[in-house]
This record gives sequence, C-alpha cells and structure tokens, in this order.
Amino acid sequence: METMALQIHIITIILLALIIVANIAVILLQKDDRSLRKYLRIQATAWSTVLSMVIFTGMIFMTVAETGFTVKIIAMIAAAVALITLETRRHFDLKRAQPESECFEKFRKRALRYYIFELLWILMVGGLAPKLS
Ligand code: HEM
Repeated sequence: METMALQIHIITIILLALIIVANIAVILLQKDDRSLRKYLRIQATAWSTVLSMVIFTGMIFMTVAETGFTVKIIAMIAAAVALITLETRRHFDLKRAQPESECFEKFRKRALRYYIFELLWILMVGGLAPKLS
C-alpha cells in the first residue's frame, strides 16, 4: 500500500510536469487565440485531476506510514499551494483576456511566466524532497 501510493505519487508528479511542459509549448506554438483559449480550458480539467491525485496519494502515504509533518512534507504542501495559486491566477487572467486583442498578447506572456514558475516549483521541491528529512 505504501509503495503503491508513493509510486502513483511520483508518476502523477511526472505527469503534471509533462502537462505543464505541453502547455508552455502550446502557448508558444499555437498562434490562434481562440484555439489557445479552448486548449487551456480543456487542459485545466486534466491539470486539476492530476494535482488532486498527487495530493491524495501524498495524504495516503502520510496516513499509512504515520509520517507526521516533516520538513519535506511541509515543503511539498507549500509547493501544492503555490501551484494552485498560480493556476487560479492563470484561470482568471484567461477569463479577462479578449482573443485577438492586445490584452490577449499580454495574457500569453503572463501565462508563460505562471507555467515556468509552476515547473520550477515542481523541479525544486521534487529535487529537494529526497534530500530533506
Ligand atoms: C507538487 C507537489 C509535490 C511534489 C513535487 C512532491 C514530490 C515528492 C517526491 C519527489 C517524493 C519522494 C521523496 C523521497 O523519496 O524521499 C515525495 C514523497 C512524499 N510526498 Fe510528495 N510531492 C508533492 C506534493 C505532496 C503533497 C501535497 C503531499 C501531502 C499531502 C505529499 C506527501 C508526500 C509523502 C508523505 C511522501 C513520502 C515521504 C517520505 O518518504 O518520508 N507530497 N513527494
């Protein structure tokens, strides 16, 4: 049970990182604003499902292994909160942006920045976690 939860935890983190890399690529490559808006709305469902799985499997491991709140778990929870905050801001920015207008261009730049920060959080915490107690 413990190993299974941890395996799914790691697999879903990798999946989330891949979704974010794909989002960065689509923002850079998809020049049609309406198609980009549609894509970002659809990916949000996958994004939140996968993050929920990361949180859920992490919580299962915490409960089964009775880990308590160690430094690495607090860092991981902080990363999850940061990801949710960034994606929520991206969501509201998209709602406000009008396709084929100057503000959509600004949205593209902000969305890119949000996704780069999301990726950095995952890489930073994912890389640090095994080294923390
Ligand atoms: C984006 C967020 C997260 C990332 C990048 C992440 C990454 C990782 C990594 C790389 C490991 C393996 C660490 C090791 O082998 O020592 C791990 C283990 C674990 N994660 Fe996460 N995690 C995240 C979110 C969470 C959340 C939200 C929770 C809790 C609710 C959680 C709970 C755990 C637990 C309990 C372990 C096992 C720790 C241990 O072996 O002592 N994680 N996580």
